Amino acid sequence: MNDINPYKVKWILPIMVAKKDIDEVKEAVSGDVEVVKPVKKKVVKEDKGPQLIDLPGVGPGAVAKLEAAGIYELMGLAVLTPSALSDMAGMSESVARKAIQASRKMMDMGFVSGLEHEEKRKELFNITTGSKNVDNLLGGKGIQTKAITEAFGAFGSGKTQLALSLAVGVQLPLDQGGANGKAVYIDTEGTFRPERVRQFAEGIGANADKVLKNILVARAFNSDHQMLLLDRVAELIKEGEPIRLMIIDSLTAHFRAEFSGRGMLADRQQRLNRYLHNLMRIAEQNNLAVYVTNQVMSDPAQMFGDPTKAIGGNIVGHACTYRMYLRRGKKDSRVCKLIDSPDLPDNETVFMIETDGLRDIDV
Ligand code: GTP
Ligand code: MG
Repeated sequence: MNDINPYKVKWILPIMVAKKDIDEVKEAVSGDVEVVKPVKKKVVKEDKGPQLIDLPGVGPGAVAKLEAAGIYELMGLAVLTPSALSDMAGMSESVARKAIQASRKMMDMGFVSGLEHEEKRKELFNITTGSKNVDNLLGGKGIQTKAITEAFGAFGSGKTQLALSLAVGVQLPLDQGGANGKAVYIDTEGTFRPERVRQFAEGIGANADKVLKNILVARAFNSDHQMLLLDRVAELIKEGEPIRLMIIDSLTAHFRAEFSGRGMLADRQQRLNRYLHNLMRIAEQNNLAVYVTNQVMSDPAQMFGDPTKAIGGNIVGHACTYRMYLRRGKKDSRVCKLIDSPDLPDNETVFMIETDGLRDIDV
């Protein structure tokens, strides 16, 4: 399985809607809180600037070849080398070179001033975690688009519960802490629980069926599959799905299981690195938030303090914009600690996992 070229595999892997028989029960439960309106494919389309078809000298035939190779936007094309593109898309190197050059020219891949950068950051959305304490820890409004937020911690520390809460939160309107969008949930461990989503939705007075309908769930069966699903997400976005949140629960479990032993560590890290880069690219290009969960292991070399360490080492640490360490606290609470943030102080807070959602307690 390991030598599958993710760019050449034709799409056979399903993303399924969390609740299939939604129409029959659509109006069975009605809530007052408005969640993102279901959109028909291709209806909601943001202006994402120039597309592949706008490139001079690239016709519909070439675009079809590029898309079949998993390249949907100019950035995806601009970062390739002619030989890699020629291999991936089955075109000659000279055609590939022309296409790459044209995309680089059109993309304006240069520097921007700090002021322009600041302006661009205003496009960002935030997504509430459901807990004001955790939102505040993350700068006031929860997790951010165009960034990867990682939650690592032992089993039962609340990583998945936070993921489910975010999958509900993203659907809220902007003025209620959401991003008015849908969530994609890539489940590597089979722990996505529609019943929990239902409880969280009802906890904020939203229509649970509608909320479930806006979460697109896919089970990833191994690390190759997990990688391929990212291309599927890119396709969904291109088809017009208003996806604002992508959850990978767990980021590392498959990689860890498949590449065990010292001899495979370098290979594992390289693949993880590639995966994280792809995640970041999708997040930046589509202005969506990525939330990943990660396990911990005990570090025998650590003599003092907490010996737990996140899996994946520096590769994951550097690729994730925000890192949260979750652990059980007093009286069944959860302690959430922010680590090494680029723009926020290291700090920690406390919350509770309740049946109908995450709840704050005084810190
Ligand atoms: P792993 O995936 O095993 O690494 O752990 P995780 O960090 O993802 O754990 P998860 O987020 O699934 O948290 C599980 C914990 O959430 C349970 O031990 C419970 O304490 C709590 N929990 C889950 N469901 C409920 C519920 O319906 N009500 C309440 N009160 N707590 C719940
Ligand atoms: Mg979990």
